[in-house]
Amino acid sequence: MSLLICIPDSMQPQSLCSALQSLDSGLKIEIGSENVHNQDEVEFAVVWKHPEGLLRNYPNLKAISSYGHGADALLADKQLPAGVPLVRLMDTTMAKWMSEYLLTVVLLQRRQLLEYAKNPEFSAWGTAVCHSHPGNQIGILGLGYLGLAAAKVFLLMDFKVSGWSRRKKQVKEVESFSGKKGFSAMLKQTDYLINLLPHTTETRDLLNIGTLSQLKRGAYLINVGRGQTLVDEDLIALLDGGQLSGACLDVFRTEPLPKEHPFRKHKNILITPHNSSATPAESVAPQILENYRRAVSGRQLLNTVDLEHGY
Ligand code: GLV
Repeated sequence: MSLLICIPDSMQPQSLCSALQSLDSGLKIEIGSENVHNQDEVEFAVVWKHPEGLLRNYPNLKAISSYGHGADALLADKQLPAGVPLVRLMDTTMAKWMSEYLLTVVLLQRRQLLEYAKNPEFSAWGTAVCHSHPGNQIGILGLGYLGLAAAKVFLLMDFKVSGWSRRKKQVKEVESFSGKKGFSAMLKQTDYLINLLPHTTETRDLLNIGTLSQLKRGAYLINVGRGQTLVDEDLIALLDGGQLSGACLDVFRTEPLPKEHPFRKHKNILITPHNSSATPAESVAPQILENYRRAVSGRQLLNTVDLEHGY
């Protein structure tokens, strides 16, 4: 039996292989579908943006793991082998990195540090601390593993935190919203909107002119969920009209973001190359190994993908 790793070179498949083998030196691992010797032996696959239909080649596959928190790239394959369970990652290091990124962006904006980077004379000596937004209300879309971790960090920094999710959550000091009305109610009070929602049919185009214009005037948007949730032209219109003060975007409809995309030239948009949080091989290897062992012995898997809701 073997475990197949089918992830892009940029995600360093060899590092994952070494991390898994350091936990279990007897594990048979094959990197890349082109290197599989015997397709019948493959019982578990770890994939990211794999070719459509590929996973049907392995008749004894017992489970498929996404190599990220998101399952959308996996579910984009309309020819997945029927009945094979899907799992995704939930990782503490990824949650820490994501929280670090989000806090950095909010503080950069709140303390206007990018303005000082451009112009050291931005504000005169002796002037009081001037926040670009006096408000300190964070609104998190998606109160899952990453959203809850970020909420805790913002609470420690004395921000007010609210969150919107499919079902209301009971989290100490976090105001929880759900549903359409809850969405509007949260937007209306938000200074910094953080999108951590997965890409599903429900979330596609959710951040558009109608919804984003409900945010407080001058609010700031951070998108670290998926590019498909945001309507690009609507964001630009809201920034140009002054409704939003800026945006930091890590994810895009097309990645890498095309060179000529208007986001690249916009003075109030900060762009990062989908690296707010990358998958750290050593940190995720234990849960991949655990799911592999559970799959081959027919036990309940961890972090299964909810096919009904698409994440
Ligand atoms: C990254 O986008 C992930 O889904 O982990």
